[in-house]
Amino acid sequence: MKKKNLLKKGLKLYKRAKEIIPGGNMLLSKRPELFLPGGWPPYFKKAQGCFVWDIDNNKYIDMSLMGVGTNILGYSNKIVDKSVQNVIKTGNLSSLNCVEEVQLAEQLIKIHPWAKMVKFARSGGEANSIAIRIARAASGRDKVAFCGYHGWHDWYLATNLEKKGNLNSHLLPSLKIRGVPQNLRNTIFPFMYNDFKQLKNIVDREKIGVICMEVTRNELPKNNFLQKVRDLASKKGIVLIFDECTSGFRKNFGGIHKYFKVNPDLALFGKALGNGYAITSIIGKKEVMESAQDSFISSTFWTERVGPTAALATLRTMKQTKSWEKIDSNGKFIIKEWSRLAKKYNLDIQIQGLPALCSFSIKSKYSRQYKTLISQEMLKKGFLAGTAIYSTVSHTKEILNKYFYELERIFKLIQSCEDGRNIFDILNYPTAHSTFERLN
Ligand SMILES: Cc1ncc(COP(=O)(O)O)c(C=O)c1O
Repeated sequence: MKKKNLLKKGLKLYKRAKEIIPGGNMLLSKRPELFLPGGWPPYFKKAQGCFVWDIDNNKYIDMSLMGVGTNILGYSNKIVDKSVQNVIKTGNLSSLNCVEEVQLAEQLIKIHPWAKMVKFARSGGEANSIAIRIARAASGRDKVAFCGYHGWHDWYLATNLEKKGNLNSHLLPSLKIRGVPQNLRNTIFPFMYNDFKQLKNIVDREKIGVICMEVTRNELPKNNFLQKVRDLASKKGIVLIFDECTSGFRKNFGGIHKYFKVNPDLALFGKALGNGYAITSIIGKKEVMESAQDSFISSTFWTERVGPTAALATLRTMKQTKSWEKIDSNGKFIIKEWSRLAKKYNLDIQIQGLPALCSFSIKSKYSRQYKTLISQEMLKKGFLAGTAIYSTVSHTKEILNKYFYELERIFKLIQSCEDGRNIFDILNYPTAHSTFERLN
């Protein structure tokens, strides 16, 4: 009997999408090819808690990216959705401004008392571009030193004009940059996390006006790194930006810089701030933020009401439920279990990241094939899974235990491959892409 294709509608639609949308979709991280080319469900029709239903009516438990970090409170959170529904009933946008943007600004300042002013946008890349503009205006200098991932805009990608692989060590490798103006060469300089000496050399050599960095991603700060960066920036009149689009609200209520007790001049939030609704923010010291008045920064849809309304409800719910404690403890459990299984099956595992957004890789020349195998086999058991997990409050202990029960069988399979079995004999799909690749 012919095997039923469980993704018939989804794959057909994605095939068409690739003909009419360059790259097939809008966000690299949601390309099915990054998980299981030809086998990963491309489209969803419903999402609730940590469950996702694809358009072919298959139901999954999301043990992967959870909307790429957007939904700490789970998909379709009732409280957040209700506040949004109220806005829709009374009008999302008009010729006048919405009060929610002022209320949200007050909330963010209350959580981060060092900051006195706030602006809003709707994506993380935008928030970064706004912050860079404000910081350049405030410092009076154009050159930027950066560490980490900060979106798709010209100012950031320009670093690869200098050297093709400059971005390779900053989350997404092999990014292509055709169309980024050549004359941005020599305006942006990468440094490695925890390498203060490298940053200091750049600052001594170039007229740096801005340092833009993630507070932490895969590594924790060592040797007082964050404070040293802070001191250097203050000494040299450099504006320090902490991009917390991903790190915010995952370890504590607010930016993780609060946990490390180092304040920037500007901090950015995105992703989880609206629990799935588009809202990002730039908060900062008054003397720096005031520079926005001398630069035209303005956009129609930054005035709509769903984003700030969702953020207000998200912050309220996070505070009430102490969501950061739950996702941190989930993450610690996940890390412990990955380590235990790796040890049991004699696999060389590398685990990284904050507990609430941890990831692993199995050190082997077949590392990427093993990642592909995990997605393939976990899908059969009803899980969206790869090698990274964004933990949410909807991941219950029962769900985590179920995930590890299924994962154990795959670790065992991987062990057999490390012992000589041909991994390609058990992979039913091509190997997952590692990053940006042209699709056809
Ligand atoms: C730290 C950081 N900054 C910026 C961005 C870009 O945000 P967006 O994809 O919303 O433009 C991301 C997205 O992953 C991020 O992790």
